[in-house]
Amino acid sequence: MEILTSAAGLQAYTENIRCNGQRLGLVPTMGALHEGHLQLVRAARESCDTVVATIFVNPTQFNNADDFRLYPRLPEADAGLLAAAGCTALFLPAVEEIYPQPTVLKFDFGALEQVMEGAHRPGHFNGVATVVSKLFHLSRPHRAYFGQKDWQQVAIVRQLVADLSFDLEIVAYPTIREADGLAMSSRNRRLTPEERAIAPQLYQVLQAAARRIRQGMLPAQVEAQALAELQQQPLFNTEYFAVADAHTLQPLAGYTPGRAVVLCLATHLGAVRLIDNVVVEL
Ligand code: PAJ
Repeated sequence: MEILTSAAGLQAYTENIRCNGQRLGLVPTMGALHEGHLQLVRAARESCDTVVATIFVNPTQFNNADDFRLYPRLPEADAGLLAAAGCTALFLPAVEEIYPQPTVLKFDFGALEQVMEGAHRPGHFNGVATVVSKLFHLSRPHRAYFGQKDWQQVAIVRQLVADLSFDLEIVAYPTIREADGLAMSSRNRRLTPEERAIAPQLYQVLQAAARRIRQGMLPAQVEAQALAELQQQPLFNTEYFAVADAHTLQPLAGYTPGRAVVLCLATHLGAVRLIDNVVVEL
């Protein structure tokens, strides 16, 4: 597996791939890789000739300095995992390589970012859209792979691709979970054993809420009940629990047959902020 550290190196490498008529898959990550990331690499390997993974802890998408500072960084271990999963090249740039100067362009995704993560992490999706646009421009992939663990991020990236006419296809894959239901996340490494033991309750709350939706309970009641359940665990400090339209991400007053619903939550567990979601097809 080739390791590229400069923007010019990534451009040259991917230009060569395209000139050879090969199909290029891109898997953007922030590293500290787990099975959720690796499934994206394997999926890319199946449908593309060349797979470029990127590892960049993107400073502009963090709205909390400690979260950025403490974000796990394990480039050597990550490189081994990527090579074993069939990745062809790893782009591992320094911050100056991606941001040679501060960006001034601002993205506005309207209603899509006025809810959930966008509402609770000001500037977060501006940073995501900035770095994802840069990676798309530098590598010009045929396909780019994202995880549904970050449901709103996928919606934002799809909007970005449509609005800016990026000539590529976004492919989204389901959330990979630990055996006890906890959604895999690089941040899980920062949980204490006690916190790790209660973290799977988040998925249990989501599943219980999904059952209530299938039984016809209205969104406001589902939200209230889920929040009450989360409050019973004193270690959870919950930011939101939302029942939303799976595509527009807007809050729902009721349900429409054939329109999927997404349940999303964000909660602090000790020093770690966790998010998760489940989709309910109606
Ligand atoms: P990161 O959190 O490292 O995630 C990289 C990709 O892996 C994202 O598309 C994310 O949704 C996916 N992913 C993470 N955990 C997953 C899980 N348990 N199951 C399935 N997919 C999972 O998301 C980012 O990085 C950044 O915002 C990025 C897009 C790289 C831009 O900086």
